[in-house]
Amino acid sequence: MSLKGRVAIVTGGAARIGAAMVSALADEGMPVCIHYGRSREAAEELAVRLAATGAKVTTVSADLRESDASAVKIVDHCLQTLGPPDVLICSASIFEPGELTTTFDDEWDRYLAIHLKAPAALCREFVRTRAPGKRQHILMMLDGRVLRPGPGHLAYAVSKCALASLARILAQELAPDVQVNGIAPGAILPPEGTSEDHLRRAEAKIPLRRRGNPGDIVQTMLYLLRSDFVTGQIVAVTGGEEL
Ligand SMILES: NC(=O)c1ccc[n+]([C@@H]2O[C@H](COP(=O)([O-])OP(=O)(O)OC[C@H]3O[C@@H](n4cnc5c(N)ncnc54)[C@H](OP(=O)(O)O)[C@@H]3O)[C@@H](O)[C@H]2O)c1
Repeated sequence: MSLKGRVAIVTGGAARIGAAMVSALADEGMPVCIHYGRSREAAEELAVRLAATGAKVTTVSADLRESDASAVKIVDHCLQTLGPPDVLICSASIFEPGELTTTFDDEWDRYLAIHLKAPAALCREFVRTRAPGKRQHILMMLDGRVLRPGPGHLAYAVSKCALASLARILAQELAPDVQVNGIAPGAILPPEGTSEDHLRRAEAKIPLRRRGNPGDIVQTMLYLLRSDFVTGQIVAVTGGEEL
């Protein structure tokens, strides 16, 4: 399926993996609505850089803890500026360590809002814009942990598992008009401040013996968006770490 001219929304698109996906979509000739939370400067710089290459881009900020309101705002902004969206990529995320004894209402509420309720609300508003006969595509950014859950980041991992289930259920509920898939990255970009020693030990546990990079995610994203017979799948981009 050709991507040129298809309109995309990317949440958390101002920085890191989100920004790499935004740039790749714009390079494919896709108008992109870049959602950001707090990274206004980075979002605007990215938009200016891409616009200078002839890409059509727009930015919109919304706090995804307000799931319904942010979903309406983001999809509406896209409709008004770029037209009806064909692609929705839910990449915005938070990531902190946590275990049962340190995880209370506040942590559960934040993680479930950002990783589950906001993507669900975005999917709802997104599919409402679908014109009859038109195909849409949703991609959820998950984590290798959804394929092999383990302790250490409790609310993060549980909420990403819930998001993976949402993707697989919506792949059925929204078929045949909407394809829904997930990408489960492994070690791609470490959180800021991660020590070299920690990174080396982590790489030693990966069968392919290296960290991935945003380009690995971008290749998978483009494959999934071009496909017209792949839905409900979770593609691990982990170097085999979850095995
Ligand atoms: N990095 C990795 O190696 C890795 C590994 C496994 C899975 N993943 C998944 O891949 C995706 C991209 O990873 P990443 O590391 O690039 O993500 P990230 O830097 O952790 O987060 C992406 C963006 O999410 C936005 N965000 C967080 N809370 C928000 C809120 N309340 N409202 C609005 N936006 C909010 C932030 O936007 P602002 O800065 O604009 O506030 C942030 O820049 C994520 O879903 C992540 O879980 C990444």
